[in-house]
Amino acid sequence: MDNLDQLVQQATADFAAAADSAQLEQAKARYLGKSGSLTERLKGLGKLDADARRAAGAEINRAKEAIEAGLEARREALREAALQAQLAAEALDVTLPGRGNLRGGLHPASRTLERIEALFRSIGFVVADGPEIETDWHNFTALNTPENHPARSMHDTFYLEGHDDVLLRTHTSPVQIRAMLAHVALHADLQTMPEIRIIAPGRVFRVDSDATHSPMFHQVEGLWVGENVSFADLKGVIADFLRKFFESDDLQVRFRPSFFPFTEPSAEIDVAFMSGALKGRWLEIAGCGMVHPNVLRFGGIDPERYTGFAFGMGPDRLTMLRYGVNDLRLFFDGDLRFLSQFR
Ligand code: PHE
Repeated sequence: MDNLDQLVQQATADFAAAADSAQLEQAKARYLGKSGSLTERLKGLGKLDADARRAAGAEINRAKEAIEAGLEARREALREAALQAQLAAEALDVTLPGRGNLRGGLHPASRTLERIEALFRSIGFVVADGPEIETDWHNFTALNTPENHPARSMHDTFYLEGHDDVLLRTHTSPVQIRAMLAHVALHADLQTMPEIRIIAPGRVFRVDSDATHSPMFHQVEGLWVGENVSFADLKGVIADFLRKFFESDDLQVRFRPSFFPFTEPSAEIDVAFMSGALKGRWLEIAGCGMVHPNVLRFGGIDPERYTGFAFGMGPDRLTMLRYGVNDLRLFFDGDLRFLSQFR
């Protein structure tokens, strides 16, 4: 039965030479298949007599078991090799340092607006808004600004092409008109109108560009209308606001007579710090005044019964003061090296 031992050796060698499972199955067929060498031998048993058949059969079966064991071992080796190859190909180096997370942050202009909103909310104001593309009527006419007023000229105002009555709002004051009209409509059935107390932060646009002017900038409008609202209330609200905003009592507030078509009397609000780099310099931060009777009327409110004050401040100016920045354009250039300092 030398012959059978050789067959087993041959089969084992063939299996070892099979590089993948397809080759291995082909090799298997050569020995154990329907006309494989071992199968042929089993068929040959029929020609032997009973004793010889029993002995030869046992030998052949042993050989068959040896070949099957060799086959199974090789199958297992190939599976293991395939798994190892896949693991190597898909390996993750968990020791590589991470790429890090770039943290975003609020733009300093947004920070200032949020701060202003929070402070005014704390004294009962609600935030209102209006469209940036505004009608000439809301932006000028209803704000008592005559046809020939210089602010209407093409030099200051961005008009929309082909529409001389639609423009980019030049200030947030048109929100006063929208807020009054909406408020009056909402409370039409009441004998006494509840007070209007709004602030309206937002973007405004003027044809202007230098270190302290940008064609797009921010304003925060304020409006308080009710019975007996006075200039004294205006002064108190503004002075308190500025001390809270700058977290300092070490500043002075000045109301300097001025003119706006939509307020009478009107004033500019200046602030001066009593210490620090800007010590003693007066800086203009807002326009204000008592709402003009014509403006109340355009808003549907009886000026004989109600009075109000309004102000419009430049939060970008406040941001520059708070952070000590001297060029307004830096805020709107989108340079992350500058902006990320405020995160
Ligand atoms: N709208 C004015 C401006 O843009 C500011 C202002 C608002 C003045 C409200 C008075 C009252 O300059």
